[in-house]
Amino acid sequence: MRVFKGEVTALPPDKSISHRAALIGALSEGTTEITNFSAGFDNQSTLGVLKSAGITLRQEEVDGAYGRRIRKVVIESTGLWSFQPPSDPLMCNNSGSTMRMFAGILAAQPFASELIGDSSLMKRPMKRVADPLRLMGVAVQLSPSGTAPMYINGTKELKPINYRLPVPSAQVKSLVAFAALHADGESRIIEPVLSRDHTEVMLGLKSIECDGERVIVIPGRKALAAKPFFIPADPSAACFIVALGLLARGSEIIIRDVCLNPTRAAFLALLTDAGAGLTIENQRVIGGETIGDILVENHAGLEPLVIQDPQLVSFIIDEIPMLAVLSAFASGQFELHNAAELRTKESDRIDALVVNLQRLGFDCEQYPDGFIVKGRKITPSGTVVIESFDDHRIAMSFAIASKATGCPIDISDSDVVGVSFPNFFELLESLEV
Ligand code: S3P
Repeated sequence: MRVFKGEVTALPPDKSISHRAALIGALSEGTTEITNFSAGFDNQSTLGVLKSAGITLRQEEVDGAYGRRIRKVVIESTGLWSFQPPSDPLMCNNSGSTMRMFAGILAAQPFASELIGDSSLMKRPMKRVADPLRLMGVAVQLSPSGTAPMYINGTKELKPINYRLPVPSAQVKSLVAFAALHADGESRIIEPVLSRDHTEVMLGLKSIECDGERVIVIPGRKALAAKPFFIPADPSAACFIVALGLLARGSEIIIRDVCLNPTRAAFLALLTDAGAGLTIENQRVIGGETIGDILVENHAGLEPLVIQDPQLVSFIIDEIPMLAVLSAFASGQFELHNAAELRTKESDRIDALVVNLQRLGFDCEQYPDGFIVKGRKITPSGTVVIESFDDHRIAMSFAIASKATGCPIDISDSDVVGVSFPNFFELLESLEV
């Protein structure tokens, strides 16, 4: 039987907050210091495109908590319009957040630019980016299927916008907010279903309640003063370690300094309600974000997870792959609805989960907005080949199941974990007793 014990102090810094800290730093007047910036490929892609668009920045290693060396990023900028025309297309690699959020900033710069990505990113929907930018007066061109390459003919004359988000997407919300900061007047974003709110927290944006919906108010052409940022550990990365502890009986793991923002940490309550032994300790607020330690203890068994509330789906969108695999292995069952957005991620995650769970002997059925796991028909005797579909969260979800339960799997392209969790395999090794 496999058991995992220990203290996790080296979880990757939050990917969403790292992207935003770099982008906001590039928009702010003065020197922005970001402590504990993520080394993940996605966040490095954001630094790469900022540099290519003329922003001065450097990364250095400094002493952090628990005797660890951590990354500090220092950005120098003159404010909202400090970008320069890039000489080549801006390569966002695998990072949808980089492409979408930076598009909102490029739309407001008085030059043309082109955004491209790897083969996965070039398939992801970008019409949701182009639509609001066009309403603000920007010429945006996409491929006939609504994907990158994205050509943006930026303008300093952006019109303010009142925009109701057609899909619950924090990336779209953020790109509209970043563009609106440059507009000639106040803009409003209406969020029928809430999504992660780091951009609002970090920019100090006001939000009001209107007819039961959240409305975010963005003042136009207001200079941002540089301020320091500290990046807490990534709750989406913590979810993998939580699942490891819950799947391997007798485990006891404490994960330090995790971002517990309610728009990100809903998976913890979901798991607790299903019987998981989770305790939050040492809770405090740093830079507007709630942070704390997660203690994962052996559990007496987990009830099958049934996820259907659209608001919950939005709050746990990145954790669903791990939650599905955890629920399937722990209880034999899982059920998901209202999650069609999962088909637009780094891979079609509904299909990727179903295909791989079926290879592991689970009886699954998929439908447009979700899937169901009805039980396990067989437990394969040999090694099962898992297809990562070049998706970091698919690779890590099945790697956790294998590590915790001992079921032998072989993951195609496991290096893809570096997109968000470069020290993933090393950390798992360090926790095994
Ligand atoms: C993110 C928002 C989500 C999430 C992604 C990161 C962000 O995407 O899946 O990993 O940092 O804003 P959507 O905005 O497409 O929902």
